[in-house]
Amino acid sequence: MIFRLLIPVQSKLTASLILCGAASLSCPVSMADSPAPESTSSVLEIMLTVIVPATNTLWQIDPPLDDSQWVELENAAEAVVDATVRLRSTSAEQGEAAAWSDDQRWQAYLDEMGSAAKSAQDTAADKNLEALENAGYAVYPPCEGCHLLFNPGVNSGL
Ligand code: HEC
Repeated sequence: MIFRLLIPVQSKLTASLILCGAASLSCPVSMADSPAPESTSSVLEIMLTVIVPATNTLWQIDPPLDDSQWVELENAAEAVVDATVRLRSTSAEQGEAAAWSDDQRWQAYLDEMGSAAKSAQDTAADKNLEALENAGYAVYPPCEGCHLLFNPGVNSGL
């Protein structure tokens, strides 16, 4: 299955990097400070550098799969599980994002995404293609639901 993201996913990040370099304005926290990616990655960075590549892998399964491809799928699902954990508490350094994780709907979407991704991880480990595809489908609705509420600027594209 293939879900296409119709939005230009790099545009926002690129724009903020250009602004940051040109005028020392709006530098993302993780770039302005010394690097500590685990604690200071913004929601947007986690989306673009972890969630997007991992779900691209999960949503473009092309059987038959060899052992290394099964491992790749399992790792991709695990990356989404890990990202879900990191998104649980958005820090005050992230400005607006600080309030996001206080909202129980934010946490509910993460529950949904995390459990679907865990199921994808387990079914990839079992090499169960049909169950993996179903788990992959289940990863998608929380993307859309969360964006509708918390990132309305992109909701028409996802
Ligand atoms: C718990 C809420 C939540 C979930 C779940 C979520 N996202 Fe996001 N996503 C956000 C927020 C908030 C932003 C905007 C971050 C910002 O602009 O600072 C975002 C931004 C993005 C962007 C960047 C859009 C842009 O403006 O360029 C992409 C791509 C994206 N998400 C993909 C996904 C995918 C794919 C999934 C599901 C696998 C997903 N997201 C799940 C909250 C979520």
